[in-house]
Amino acid sequence: MSIASIIKKLLLEQRLGKIGSDQYGPETLAVKNAIRKLAYRYRTPYVLGVLIAAITAKRMGISGTSVVEFGVARGEGLNELASISQVIQSTFGIKIDVYGFDWGASGLRETIDFRDHPEMWKPGTYCMESPNEMVENFRKRNVSLVIGDIHNTIKCLDKAPLPIGFVIVDVDYYNSTVPIMEWLLQTPSTNLLPAVPLYLDDTDSLFALSEYTGQKLAINEFNQRVEFRKIDKKSEKYRLYAVNCFDHTLRNTINPIRLDINHRNLIQLLDPKQF
Ligand SMILES: C[S@@+](CC[C@H](N)C(=O)[O-])C[C@H]1O[C@@H](n2cnc3c(N)ncnc32)[C@H](O)[C@@H]1O
Repeated sequence: MSIASIIKKLLLEQRLGKIGSDQYGPETLAVKNAIRKLAYRYRTPYVLGVLIAAITAKRMGISGTSVVEFGVARGEGLNELASISQVIQSTFGIKIDVYGFDWGASGLRETIDFRDHPEMWKPGTYCMESPNEMVENFRKRNVSLVIGDIHNTIKCLDKAPLPIGFVIVDVDYYNSTVPIMEWLLQTPSTNLLPAVPLYLDDTDSLFALSEYTGQKLAINEFNQRVEFRKIDKKSEKYRLYAVNCFDHTLRNTINPIRLDINHRNLIQLLDPKQF
């Protein structure tokens, strides 16, 4: 281990040591243990999303939650999601089901119109070399990788036994984001946690992305359609949003469950640049 990583580790330990016993409610120990194992190794927004989903599920007293990556390509992100979920599953003592969705061998197909940013993405890139092999390898890690167009395959999430707690959208195109937004709008609130972290990869990273095209357009259309669900931004830097399900039972009854999860504190603990 290099001197720099030893220093980072010591600083992380110091930060974790400062967490008061009630800062994360009854989950404080689980949060500390998970962050100790995950902080340097994996993508911060993925760790953040799974952590928020796990804390929510734990507080709700349910047996677990499901996490999904739309747009898998060669599986780097899905691999990370599976490893993060494994650690969080054991530290929190809940079940986390992992799903991935992708076109497969074709990679990106043709764009439909300007809303997909044809000036940015190239059809034929991000192809999966051996989709069947990948499905099998992920199955061995208890990850369901579903091959096909998301327009047709997303309905299999209706049968997910655990409510969706974290959604990653990395499908590049507006026309591929639309069915995901449609599903998030139509699915009964029992299939979702009350506030679902949503990671959107292609919102602000490139200059030509806009409010009127790509993923941002899909979010804006979502927000215009109904009052009972809205998507809002939580972290600019980590492109983290929340799908707020105002129609969720937990947000419509007087109950003793507190969902006051402080994502800014979690970011401070996870962000290596802060050390
Ligand atoms: C940028 S890559 C994903 C990278 C991956 N998330 C990672 O971090 O390793 C985008 C992927 O979205 C997939 N995709 C785009 N539109 C799709 C659709 N309608 N149905 C299924 N897959 C789609 C493409 O096949 C491509 O592999």
